[in-house]
Amino acid sequence: MIRITAVNKNFHTVSGQLHVLRDIDLKIDVGERIAIVGTSGAGKTTLMHIMGGLDRPTSGEVLFEERNLFALKGAALDAFRNQTIGFIFQFHQLLPEFTALENVMMPLLISGQSRAQARGQAADILTETGLGERLDHKPGALSGGEQQRVAIARALIQNPRLLLADEPTGNLDRRTSDEIFGLLGKLHTKHNLTMVIVTHNDQLASRMDRVVRIEDGRLVSNDPN
Ligand SMILES: Nc1ncnc2c1ncn2[C@@H]1O[C@H](COP(=O)(O)OP(=O)(O)O)[C@@H](O)[C@H]1O
Ligand SMILES: [Mg+2]
Repeated sequence: MIRITAVNKNFHTVSGQLHVLRDIDLKIDVGERIAIVGTSGAGKTTLMHIMGGLDRPTSGEVLFEERNLFALKGAALDAFRNQTIGFIFQFHQLLPEFTALENVMMPLLISGQSRAQARGQAADILTETGLGERLDHKPGALSGGEQQRVAIARALIQNPRLLLADEPTGNLDRRTSDEIFGLLGKLHTKHNLTMVIVTHNDQLASRMDRVVRIEDGRLVSNDPN
């Protein structure tokens, strides 16, 4: 599904050039579940953003289903991303003034669907993530695990083929993290997803098909296991 070749990423900062990703090569097959692990600052989020077309590499290539992701520009890249990739962020980034249902409807409304249709689809996917009884709660009235379930529903509402999750359980206790990983496993099967999950938790990482480790911007292990 994705082939990353010789990707480097530099950031220009006041204190000089930061070489954040170094010669990354990574191939991800359709349907695979990959965990990316590594210490804080290793480059995990940067790599995930590049994989998902949210940020451009300084050099190197990202092929997504054989097409060069960064040959797409502006609105074309946005449209491709919206139809293809679902993102889950560490700090769920739900809109606090809107209910769970409205948060999940939002991407559909933005892409021009009718309110009635968006409402039905959002209620279905929230039911699937276990929040059928919490549709009208605002994020502040939900637990951390429930907020993450809303974020998962929002990421899946447009039927993406790839799900990218950046430390989706970073702020959750062990039992809740376990439940969220269980849910992601279920959704992987049901929706034929390819999944890339950044996590600090080695035990949860080992539940994926493959674990990839980043140290100082380099891939140091890439074990097919
Ligand atoms: N937009 C940016 N500008 C400058 N430096 C950045 C930027 N984004 C990330 N970095 C730096 O790149 C390094 C890797 O960051 P990141 O990919 O977020 O690491 P991780 O997700 O593994 O914790 C860090 O040193 C971080 O400070
Ligand atoms: Mg990060």
